[in-house]
Amino acid sequence: MRVHLIGVAGSGMSGLASLFIELGHTVSGSDKVSTLETERLEKNGLTFHCPQNEREVEGADMVIYSSAVKPGNLAYEAAYKQGIPLVRRAEALAAIMSRKHGVVVAGTHGKTTTSSLAAHVLRVGGMKPSHYVGAEIPILGTNAYWDHAGELFVVEGDESDGTLTNFQPRHAIVLNIEAEHLDFYEDIHAIKAVFRQLLEKTSGLTVYCAEDPVATELCQGRNKSVGYGWSLEHDFSARIIELRPSQTEFEVFDSGKSLGIITLGIPGKHNVLNALAAIGLATRLGVEFAKIQQALTSFRGARRRFEVKHQGPHFQIIDDYGHHPTEVKATLATAKALNPKRIVCLFQPHRFTRTQLLKTEFGAAFSDVDVLCVTDVYAASEKPLPGVSGQTIIDEVRAQSRVECHSTPTMLEARNKIGHLLQPGDLLITLGAGNVHEVGTCLARDLKVVESLLDLLKHEGGGVVKLYEPMANHTTIRIGGPAQYWIEPRTISGMQEIVKFLRGASIPIRVIGRGSNLLVRDGGIRGAVIHPSKGEFDEVIVQDNFITAGAGARLKKIASAAKAAGIGGFEWMEGIPGNLGGSLRMNAGAMGAQTFDQVVSVRFIDANGEIREKWKAEIKANYRSVPEFDQHYAVSAVLQGHAADPADIAAKLEASHSKRRTSQPIAASAGCIFKNPETTPAGMLVDQLGFKGQSRGPAHVSEVHGNFIVNNGGAKARNVLDMIADIKQSALTERGITLETEVQIIGQDEPQGM
Ligand code: EPU
Repeated sequence: MRVHLIGVAGSGMSGLASLFIELGHTVSGSDKVSTLETERLEKNGLTFHCPQNEREVEGADMVIYSSAVKPGNLAYEAAYKQGIPLVRRAEALAAIMSRKHGVVVAGTHGKTTTSSLAAHVLRVGGMKPSHYVGAEIPILGTNAYWDHAGELFVVEGDESDGTLTNFQPRHAIVLNIEAEHLDFYEDIHAIKAVFRQLLEKTSGLTVYCAEDPVATELCQGRNKSVGYGWSLEHDFSARIIELRPSQTEFEVFDSGKSLGIITLGIPGKHNVLNALAAIGLATRLGVEFAKIQQALTSFRGARRRFEVKHQGPHFQIIDDYGHHPTEVKATLATAKALNPKRIVCLFQPHRFTRTQLLKTEFGAAFSDVDVLCVTDVYAASEKPLPGVSGQTIIDEVRAQSRVECHSTPTMLEARNKIGHLLQPGDLLITLGAGNVHEVGTCLARDLKVVESLLDLLKHEGGGVVKLYEPMANHTTIRIGGPAQYWIEPRTISGMQEIVKFLRGASIPIRVIGRGSNLLVRDGGIRGAVIHPSKGEFDEVIVQDNFITAGAGARLKKIASAAKAAGIGGFEWMEGIPGNLGGSLRMNAGAMGAQTFDQVVSVRFIDANGEIREKWKAEIKANYRSVPEFDQHYAVSAVLQGHAADPADIAAKLEASHSKRRTSQPIAASAGCIFKNPETTPAGMLVDQLGFKGQSRGPAHVSEVHGNFIVNNGGAKARNVLDMIADIKQSALTERGITLETEVQIIGQDEPQGM
């Protein structure tokens, strides 16, 4: 027979195609997209058409179409016109099932896991089962498999569109029955009716979960029914011994008598119930207990079912496909049982209809969570519903609990927010049936680096390591996208170790001080930003007329230490908001003085992480630029002043202070934007060009001083850069002057991808 499948790339349809190929039919199919799965099927004999067209169905004896195929599909219309029998996916599957003893696994939650468990247990038990499950399960090989030798055919039933009623299985497993897919069913009664029809047609065992009231109502008392649950009264029951991150140990009882202990290779209390379904079925079909034990220990779940994406000394990341409130609750309970310090959850709602219909239940599903982030709804081919979004979930959760909630509409926002808020000891769980797992993959990669850095610092005086730290928190102009890794060592040896590690891992390094002359672009900084601060970096030691200070010491602190010791020459520092490290890097200055006037020597860490020291004469210091410290990171310096009259020092300090107060703005800024050209001071030039008071968004040229751009709140680097470009252009065309920026501009415009 020639069989053609429309929508063959889908997870169910591709399985069906491989069964038809295995049964010896000539199989063709089409889809909008080609996937790894269609490529694999082509190797096994599928004739694949992409894109779809009218001619692909020619010569087919039967055309099978997926429920995702919508009216107007060219291939579907052509088959209809040509009178080729058109059958739905479930009808075709029912036809195949009639050749074997079908075992249908049905229920609202846990179908894929349970059908895989059953197929695996029966296979290890020597029953040679065929199977058809809804996802790629590595331990089973492929999602569908035909074994000509065996009698049994394990099938994951799909209740979403009523097609369960097509099946006439030998055996059935009923896991649980809840209100779901309310876009198709009117209410729970309509769903129950479908299950009842399935059970009427089941001739052999009915294995059901006695913990589920609706499953019990429908199955209890049927001929050859087998109930399972927690109580010894059930046909099969379990007593949990230990729940572990990736395994569960429990004792199994058959009619109250112990059969032995099982170590199940997947976590979660709910999976013990799923395993009991497989144990009940296999035991009643004659599989010996030792084989069942062996199968369950070796079982590994599907991807995205409580998948451990990262398990490190400080952080854990779990990913799960759960997208219904009951699944969400069960998965979070599993996470809770692992006893992390906090549970941080990223939830991606799946489908607008489900979000709307089950919002109250969702509102109650996250009570085990400490911090919840919610993304936009994953549409799954639905059209948006007005007023339904991730915020719908947040509003419900807030109405029903005190869980801390954040709205993170895009995956990028979610990654940045979560990366930033995670603390050692946290467990992150990503939940949803869309693409939310990408966030976990990205964070797993970056958290590995964070863990290594934390461990390095632990032995070197401690410090801080954070992901995606907003640079707006570390620049005086309050602008800047996130730094991928933000590191604050407290000791010079700690910083050395960090530099060595980052070099070895090929992670770019930036060292920043107080960020007082810094503009970070909106996309942030890829790689590491080291901020030597506190601890050894804050030290200021005075001896005779010399001051030895760490790179993190504020210039104001140095100025006041000098004053206290009666040393002159440092008064200009009073007017500058930076610290010594930044000031060495750019030879900062004010009141006619500059940093290198006072430098005796500088200690620094070179690009290989080695400590070195240079005398002033060995360092070339230009006006507002010291190339030496582009690749080398200053950690401390010895500075020299001269004995001075305290009254003189006080007067100069006051002059410095008052100069700043009277001629410079107090609003958030990055200090002077341009270097002073030789002919005219930049502030005067900008003033003369008429830019004072001009704005680009909330970025504003100060009325007080033309060489300052101030952030009036919420300005982006983009605004400041636009303003800088316009001023430069004007200086060039109006006055023939090429302005150079003094402010350091770093980072990237576009956000870092995942
Ligand atoms: N001026 C104007 N209009 C203005 C601003 C300034 O006409 O809007 C005139 C002033 O009246 C003055 C001249 O321009 O005649 C220079 O201005 P100012 O005395 O304020 O000094 P500056 O050269 O703009 C320099 C440093 C500052 C430092 C001050 C104080 C540079 C680029 N700037 O400013 O440093 O605080 O001297 O000594 O060298 C910084 O490095 O970030 C910084 C602010």
